[in-house]
Amino acid sequence: MIAVTKSYEETFDFGRILGRVLKPGDVVALDGGLGSGKTCLCAGICRALGVKDVVTSPTYTIVHEYEGVFPVYHIDAYRISGAEDFEASCGSEILCGGNVCLVEWGGRIASCLPPNTIYVEIKISGGGAREITVNGIDVEY
Ligand SMILES: Nc1ncnc2c1ncn2[C@@H]1O[C@H](COP(=O)(O)OP(=O)(O)O)[C@@H](O)[C@H]1O
Ligand SMILES: [Mg+2]
Repeated sequence: MIAVTKSYEETFDFGRILGRVLKPGDVVALDGGLGSGKTCLCAGICRALGVKDVVTSPTYTIVHEYEGVFPVYHIDAYRISGAEDFEASCGSEILCGGNVCLVEWGGRIASCLPPNTIYVEIKISGGGAREITVNGIDVEY
């Protein structure tokens, strides 16, 4: 499905809608340029999953772990150079098991992503709008 959002708040709210249909074991890979809204969408997803912390970009730490209704891992793969580096930085076991895993720049670790991965692609269009394409899960929007 494709959603068009026109502000930070609308993208956050779309993240909440997506977050409500996630279950433990789900991996969400987000791609789109710098500033397209990946972290904003992840913050909305985390809100829906009961995370109380303020969600910030894991750009430098690579991975943030949040406590929600189940653990939520938020990864920024921008500086990860492939499967080996991902294994060393995060450990591939975080992509399975009883948690949800959100991966910004998921394309950079494409070979590590499981077959059930949910793909989110964000395109910046004019006037602050974002075109958000979701594949791998049904979302009512
Ligand atoms: N429709 C929109 N959705 C999300 N963010 C938007 C939108 N329009 C403008 N913005 C701005 O774009 C930026 C998105 O930042 P962020 O979520 O950190 O992006 P990314 O993680 O993809 O680099 C924020 O500064 C936000 O205010
Ligand atoms: Mg980001």
